[in-house]
Amino acid sequence: MKSSYKLDEARETIDIWRGNRESIGFVPTMGALHKGHLSLIERAKRDNKRIVVSIFVNPLQFNDKNDFDNYPSTLEQDQLLLDEAGVDLLIAPAASEMHPQPMNFAMSVKSISDVYEGQFRPGHFDGVATVVAKLLLLVGPSRVYFGEKDIQQCYVIKRMVEEFHFPNVIEIVETYREASGLAFSSRNTRLSDASKRIAPSMYQNLLRAAKEIRDGSDPATVINVAIEKVAEAAKREAVEFGYDYVELIDQNFKSVAQYSEGLRIVAAWTLDGVRLIDNLSV
Ligand code: PAJ
Repeated sequence: MKSSYKLDEARETIDIWRGNRESIGFVPTMGALHKGHLSLIERAKRDNKRIVVSIFVNPLQFNDKNDFDNYPSTLEQDQLLLDEAGVDLLIAPAASEMHPQPMNFAMSVKSISDVYEGQFRPGHFDGVATVVAKLLLLVGPSRVYFGEKDIQQCYVIKRMVEEFHFPNVIEIVETYREASGLAFSSRNTRLSDASKRIAPSMYQNLLRAAKEIRDGSDPATVINVAIEKVAEAAKREAVEFGYDYVELIDQNFKSVAQYSEGLRIVAAWTLDGVRLIDNLSV
């Protein structure tokens, strides 16, 4: 695998592949790679000749400086994993090159940037859209892969690509989970042992809630029961639990009260201050 820390160098490599008309699959990440990221790469390998991965902890998308400063960084280990996974090119640019200062231009997301993740992380989706637009222009992939784990991010990127007539195909890959049901996340490494024991309980309880909603129970009631169960589990482990939202939504991220097809439950919660998100189909 080739690693490029300079954008020009990455562009040169990619230009050769494009000249040879080789399909390029692209997986943008912020590093601290885990099996969720690797599942995106596996999927990309099925569909493309060349695989490009980026690792860039994008300062623009962190509304909380502390969260940015504490974001895990494991570049050497990431490189080993990517090499083993058969990735052709890793792009790991410096922030100063990715976002030259002063920044005069940025994406501004209007739709759904003020609900759920957008509401609780102001500016987050502007930052995501800006960096993804830059990366897509740089890499020019045939297909680009995103995880359903970040369902609202998928929505924002799909809309952006449509509205700006980007030629890239967006592929969404289902959430990769531990046997316990906990979704792999770079933030899981920040969970204490006690938090790790109860982290899966949100998904487990929401899975049950989803079934009860399908079977006709009142969504708000069963979702509240699920939240209560997680709160009780946290209390038993002396872990501080809080949540930003746990809600039933439609495909446009509108909160809904009644069951119909195509709904999801989205959730964001904290365990001893570590913030996790997840979502599942109802
Ligand atoms: P990051 O959190 O590193 O995630 C990179 C990609 O991996 C995203 O598309 C995310 O949805 C996907 N992913 C994370 N956990 C997953 C899991 N358990 N199963 C399947 N896919 C998973 O998301 C970002 O980085 C950034 O916002 C980025 C798009 C790179 C822009 O900076």
